[in-house]
Amino acid sequence: MKYMKSMSINVVLASTLSISPFLANAEGMIPSENIKEARSLVKAFGSDLKHVLKTSMKSEGPIKALEVCNTQAGPIAKQNSSLSGWDIARTSLKVRNENNAPDEWELTVLHQFEKRKAAGENLKTMEYAETVQQGDKSVYRYMKPIPTAGVCVQCHGGNVGDEITKKVALLYPNDNATGFNIGDIRGAFSLQKIITKPID
Ligand code: HEC
Repeated sequence: MKYMKSMSINVVLASTLSISPFLANAEGMIPSENIKEARSLVKAFGSDLKHVLKTSMKSEGPIKALEVCNTQAGPIAKQNSSLSGWDIARTSLKVRNENNAPDEWELTVLHQFEKRKAAGENLKTMEYAETVQQGDKSVYRYMKPIPTAGVCVQCHGGNVGDEITKKVALLYPNDNATGFNIGDIRGAFSLQKIITKPID
């Protein structure tokens, strides 16, 4: 009985916390230029990462691919950022690289994504955008969840092989990014851009 009660409170929270700001910012109106740009940057960044992961897994196997992720994930994010004028990154509730740890706003959105997923929303179309004030600057911020696919669990799953576990421990002594199942939210893309005049 106690359990049932807390379940229903969670459901109410999920709908008030997540769905209304989402509709107001991301879907309720004609998409802004900012959200269109953010969506296409996420596609480009995601496909750069996937390409590097896939080719290194295929040609040299997961241990080498792990090294490639270690050395290339940062530069790929930097390159996508400097080409676009946005800050483009990945974050998660459980990070491998501590440089990817979420800030307060990202943490709130990551929790919001978990609630929306639990309420049955599809990860494919899930996103959140908001213009926030940071000091004297208006910053447009956008996040999109990254689902865990079959290939990901080799390095982020609950049953990672010994060799990979050892290599991860060597490269990331504080690794927290294991235990994910296919379909879980592995993390999220997080983009931001300083805007001179709010478009939304
Ligand atoms: C070959 C091993 C390997 C595979 C397979 C792999 N990853 Fe990772 N992943 C890593 C490493 C290493 C990092 C840390 C990269 C860095 O230093 O920035 C990482 C980091 C991440 C991050 C950034 C947040 C964090 O934890 O630091 C996300 C998000 C992520 N991976 C998602 C995925 C997804 C989604 C897949 C499947 C499509 C996947 N990974 C497959 C090794 C892997």
